[in-house]
Amino acid sequence: MKTSILTIMLTSASLCLANNPQLRADNIDEIIKNLTIEEKARLLVGRENSESDKGVPGAAGVTQDIPRLGIPSVVLTDGPAGVRISPTRKGDNATYYATGFPVGTALASTWNQELVENVGKAIGNETLEYGCDVLLAPGMNIHRTPLCGRNFEYYSEDPVVAGLIAAAYVNGVQSNKVGTSIKHFAVNSQETNRIEVDEIVSPRALREIYLRPFEISLRTSNPWTVMSSYNKLNGTWTQSSPELLKTILRDEWGYDGLVMTDWTNERRPSYERVAAGNALLTPGHDWQETDIIEHVKDGSLSMKDVDEQVKILLSMIVKTPRFNHYNFSNRPDLDAHAALTRQASTEGMVLLENRNNTLPLNKTGKVALFGKTSYDFIAGGTGSGNVNKPYVIDLKTGLTNAGFTIDPKLQDYYEAQKVLNDKIRAISGESSRYDEPAISRRNIEKLAADNDIAVITIGRQAGEGRDRDIDGDFNLTQNERELIENVAAAFHAVGKKLIVIMNMGNVMETASWKNIPDAILLAWQPGQEGGNSVADVLIGKESPSGKLTMTFPITISDIPAVNNFPTGTGPNNRRNGKNYDYSNHEEDIYVGYRYFTSFDKPVSYPFGYGLSYTEFKYSKPVVKATPDGFTASITVTNTGNREGKEAVQLYVSAPGKDMIKPARELKDFSKTSLLKPGQSETLTFTVSADDLASFNDEASQWQTEAGTYNIQFGASVDDIRAKAPYVQKKALTKKVNNVLSLKRELNTISPQ
Ligand code: GLC
Repeated sequence: MKTSILTIMLTSASLCLANNPQLRADNIDEIIKNLTIEEKARLLVGRENSESDKGVPGAAGVTQDIPRLGIPSVVLTDGPAGVRISPTRKGDNATYYATGFPVGTALASTWNQELVENVGKAIGNETLEYGCDVLLAPGMNIHRTPLCGRNFEYYSEDPVVAGLIAAAYVNGVQSNKVGTSIKHFAVNSQETNRIEVDEIVSPRALREIYLRPFEISLRTSNPWTVMSSYNKLNGTWTQSSPELLKTILRDEWGYDGLVMTDWTNERRPSYERVAAGNALLTPGHDWQETDIIEHVKDGSLSMKDVDEQVKILLSMIVKTPRFNHYNFSNRPDLDAHAALTRQASTEGMVLLENRNNTLPLNKTGKVALFGKTSYDFIAGGTGSGNVNKPYVIDLKTGLTNAGFTIDPKLQDYYEAQKVLNDKIRAISGESSRYDEPAISRRNIEKLAADNDIAVITIGRQAGEGRDRDIDGDFNLTQNERELIENVAAAFHAVGKKLIVIMNMGNVMETASWKNIPDAILLAWQPGQEGGNSVADVLIGKESPSGKLTMTFPITISDIPAVNNFPTGTGPNNRRNGKNYDYSNHEEDIYVGYRYFTSFDKPVSYPFGYGLSYTEFKYSKPVVKATPDGFTASITVTNTGNREGKEAVQLYVSAPGKDMIKPARELKDFSKTSLLKPGQSETLTFTVSADDLASFNDEASQWQTEAGTYNIQFGASVDDIRAKAPYVQKKALTKKVNNVLSLKRELNTISPQ
């Protein structure tokens, strides 16, 4: 009897399966025909990972499964500096730490696309081996101002740097056959009121500055997904904008992957966002499924639009490791990745000052190590860009590992302060953020007598959901200033030196104090091996070759965009609890160095700047016209007495007859390998006529004017080492759709 019931059950089950085709890469259309509208809505709406028993603990989200058709749930996990999942699991003795890699600004500051691709490969491997399918990275929004809390996750003020670094990262991650998500598309330039703010941008600034990085990244990489951002753009939610997500992204740029929303919990019309081109609403709520079903039934959402997005989603799912039953190990090679992050982060560190060749230190010795961050090093930023790392090497440990002796009394003092600070944080939730404990001059003089050198770490933390303050954040605190001044005075009085380490993910004020220390190393937030990485650079085991991918202004008010940024001042933006609703991009295309060079304004450190332990000579360049623009080459020679790498930037100054143009714009960059003293390397560059174009708002077209262009090869935007002319014989125009236009008057600045 039992047997027969079992037989009947098995038969009916197999019949049932037989009636239900199982998803394969080549039968997606058939599957769609078999899906009910309820199932289609289920597919288009994700779920918090925590609400699913099919996810990976600590991951961000999952898609929903349809078991009867063999459609699995797949796992979406953050983030740009490493896989963000829970490091421990209830009832499980194993651990699931992921490697904390350098943050976005640190990776971009390497100017080394190959290195970034290698870091991406390692992060992609951890994504794969921890059972995830899509990494929600890279973050690649433009640094409109230094005050955006998430700049640490992003790459640059310049679209070419942001686009090429993002492409390298995507190719690295996806070489593991897992997906990425280029984000946040588009103009997600601030954290204050990010869910509501309406970014008011001219079509020219939109095309040339804010969309350009995404466009460039899609030329040389094919990210599985794009994440549409929270904000509005010229009056329309980006997530509900077919002009952005279909007309530009797909019709003009040819993107055929999946668009998912950023993690929106607000009750916005879900059917609109499916129609606009999102194939996945995340994190996802049941009311969104209902909304989709109801609007299909009342005809306001076409089944055609639904099926189009379901097809895109299924086309992504069939590529995932989970669909292909990859047997993930939960054991990526964390030791190898730790070594990789230790080396990679040194290449992004920027040597800002090095008076009388203070660095590299030619011997170890006794160090008076100041600054609470020296003992509590900041490896990365906060929010979804954080990583649950197995450890962080602080600077005290890194210097000790390198053979230095840390002054014990000073160490005890700071570590006692840390205990006190942690208690304050535990009680009040607030830590004293950056305030340094005061140290008397007398004690500092004693330390100068007892030690060989002084090191001060200035630390800054920032992250998702909050923008930075100016006082006490962008600017030094009074205690920090006094510490730098007093330590420099005491150590200089006895012929000893002071090194300042900047441990942050973003820009801060430097002009008022940069001439006090003997050396300044911008270490960024270098990942879990941070202290070792800094020590490697200080002792010359690694030569710093990082260069700034954003401008360090003299004061924050020198940046025009700050007038329209939520700093608690300015006509359009208020914080202190009051939401504001828009931000005018009156600076237009004059973001970063485009502003400072075109308006001839001084800066503290220019875009592209970074010192080395050696010097480089640039040869006479060769620029050759091609049918589609020009190629250029230049030979770089190490003329110093230490090895080093040099990142060379190719800028172009256009004739500027048909439109007002920035003084110069970066069009390509390349970096030498490690050159020994006397060694040379020839770098090549490629620039197309399209790359030379500017965007004409009125005509809604890209325009490459004919005439003589001045091609400049720079060690930074202000340090042009070689020039050559290029004649663009024919004027070119490329019409694009007149979309996302301004809905209101916008008074933009202009250098003329
Ligand atoms: C956040 C972030 C996004 C992240 C997502 C999932 O709101 O804006 O970058 O990937 O949610 O955590």
